[in-house]
Amino acid sequence: MPCLGLRHVVQQPGPDQRAEAFRSSSSSEQGVLGTELHEEQPAPALELSLALSADLGAVAVAPCHPSASRCLSGGSESMNKTYSHTPVPLDFPVPEFDFAGCDARRWNGGSAVKSHFWNTFSSLLPNIEFCAIVTLLPIVKRIDDAKLNMETSQFCRQEGEHGNAHSRFNAQRLHPDYPFLTRMESWERSLFKRLSIWLPLNWNLALFVAVEHWTAAFSHFGLQRPDDWFSECDPTMFSLWEWHAVEELAHKSVCFDIFRYFGGSYFSRVAGMVLLLALIMLPGIFARMAYLFWKDGIFFKPATYKGLFSYLFSRTGVLRTTFLDFLGYFRLGYNPWNLDSRPLISAWESRNPVASSVSAPQPASSPDK
Ligand SMILES: [Fe+2]
Ligand SMILES: [Fe+2]
Repeated sequence: MPCLGLRHVVQQPGPDQRAEAFRSSSSSEQGVLGTELHEEQPAPALELSLALSADLGAVAVAPCHPSASRCLSGGSESMNKTYSHTPVPLDFPVPEFDFAGCDARRWNGGSAVKSHFWNTFSSLLPNIEFCAIVTLLPIVKRIDDAKLNMETSQFCRQEGEHGNAHSRFNAQRLHPDYPFLTRMESWERSLFKRLSIWLPLNWNLALFVAVEHWTAAFSHFGLQRPDDWFSECDPTMFSLWEWHAVEELAHKSVCFDIFRYFGGSYFSRVAGMVLLLALIMLPGIFARMAYLFWKDGIFFKPATYKGLFSYLFSRTGVLRTTFLDFLGYFRLGYNPWNLDSRPLISAWESRNPVASSVSAPQPASSPDK
């Protein structure tokens, strides 16, 4: 993969020109979900192959080209010109997960409420992750910013790996007992496909900026308080969510940086969050939880909602802990690395020596663009 040098970065067009080029060529790209994906191949520089399987929607993604690491360390001058805010490498190894002994109802502290809260995300996230990949792949060749270009391909690879891991868990442990989830996932795939066609491309990107904000918030505070959110957790499931969280933190600003690169506005960023909550997150989560509780026979039990309220809104609750960070999304000067997650990534690497031998934290760049 040839690295783009400083000359390319300095001569790149401004956000308005990029957005115009983006719009003028987007008619064939907006419907890229599913079959159209194969009609336009990723840029040669991407070095990333992707295939959707009919059964799991699994994504097979080749590793990034070795020369990608040269781009990352490619001189302070070009680093200072980049739109990227990402201060860490995005090349973590992919663990193996054996879900054979996992109980979908009890894996989180023996609690169906706590387990199902995260099971909803396990069912919801692969579609969103695959949708992000097929939205970003066609535009990566237009990102004439070496660091951001490389991080976009690494972002796609990581999301593909997350989607694959969760799809395996879903297929093995979740879908057999909760078959209606597959129907919901199928409906969402068609909704995402329609959204990718109907929405302006900057709004599509804004949706993923909003998704990445949520995943990063849950990841940051979940890694800070594993004993509160994942006490007495099944070790395999804990490893899955911990690894996913670390990678979400490492790449949390990639979509935001791409969005800025193409001239995304504050208004469209906020609109992306509103659309995400109204069309995807709230209906997707509530419908799944209702179904999972009903299937387990706990839908009408007050203890279910008492436990859920406590898990979400107690002093260490999931939503209460992340609420201030959620509000931070609406600041004019928002960028995902306003909340520094490097200590959490480093701590995970020190607990996983294989990971630290592959990647070491880098100093934060200061794009100021
Ligand atoms: Fe992910
Ligand atoms: Fe992500």
